[in-house]
Amino acid sequence: MYEIINNIDADRFSEVSANPDVEEVNHCAKTIRKSGNDVIIAVGGGSVIDAAKAASVTVNDIAKYHGTGRSVPETHIPLIAVPTTSGTGSEVTNTSVLTNRRTGEKAPIVSDSFYPKLALIDPMLTISMPKSVTASTGIDVLCHAVESYWSRRHLPVCEPLAVKAARLVLDHLARVYENPYDTDARERMSEASLLAGLAFSLPKTTSSHACSYPLTALYGIPHGEACGLTLDYFIKVNAKDERTRNLSSELGFSSVNEFADAVVRLKKAVGLRTNLRDFTLSEKDIDELVRKSHHPNMLNNPIEITDEILYDLYHKLR
Ligand SMILES: [Fe+2]
Repeated sequence: MYEIINNIDADRFSEVSANPDVEEVNHCAKTIRKSGNDVIIAVGGGSVIDAAKAASVTVNDIAKYHGTGRSVPETHIPLIAVPTTSGTGSEVTNTSVLTNRRTGEKAPIVSDSFYPKLALIDPMLTISMPKSVTASTGIDVLCHAVESYWSRRHLPVCEPLAVKAARLVLDHLARVYENPYDTDARERMSEASLLAGLAFSLPKTTSSHACSYPLTALYGIPHGEACGLTLDYFIKVNAKDERTRNLSSELGFSSVNEFADAVVRLKKAVGLRTNLRDFTLSEKDIDELVRKSHHPNMLNNPIEITDEILYDLYHKLR
């Protein structure tokens, strides 16, 4: 792939950080406007693809649309997405998750202008991922699949994709973490990422993603790891929801608790955090986390998530 790109007469933009900032997007959009490019090829992980989506509408200041609910313009430059991780599913969604470091806010912008024109998925491009990125992006796939299934905005057409994606992650993530050159497992994880991306594109994510935004913005925890931190807790909370129990049994677990335990075991097997002890959270820190976890996606959770539940969650993770 890099050989192909090196032979294309194209302008390059590589100043995209792990949590792309609105200023990086503005800079990229300015580069596109100046050079008059007629297509964008985004080669990278979710951050690169998300930044490219937001830059493709080439507005002067993307911050005007970040966390404001304002609609992004429809006119945009077509985007070809080439993922080098198997995680975000960004190559098939209409979402761009950006950070505004000035305001400390991390939030998605959703627009149909952001759908890539083409997604090229080659599992061989994911082989060079560091182990920690394999782990974090892999657990993100599981969260996309599970949250899309139990979302209040669930759709019958998305359910089989979610179940298949979740099963693939449960069966292959630890394997690919142990052996990064296991091409069969890499292929299965790329498939899982794509299916989960399709599964959550319409139902959207829920509680684990809502909590991940402040965990990443305030404590720098990588996106997938931040989502995975709360997944087993919310599986147990959502046990009251019939669809969550259905998902658990469709995945072959005899109970919701068994499902939650399998998620904890998987996180440990791939070296992900299972608590927030590294951050010695004070009561004030927990207050802030609870306040900032009420992202709109929280409303998609099948069970109402109250402050009381969030305090319980963060105290257990502390
Ligand atoms: Fe995600």
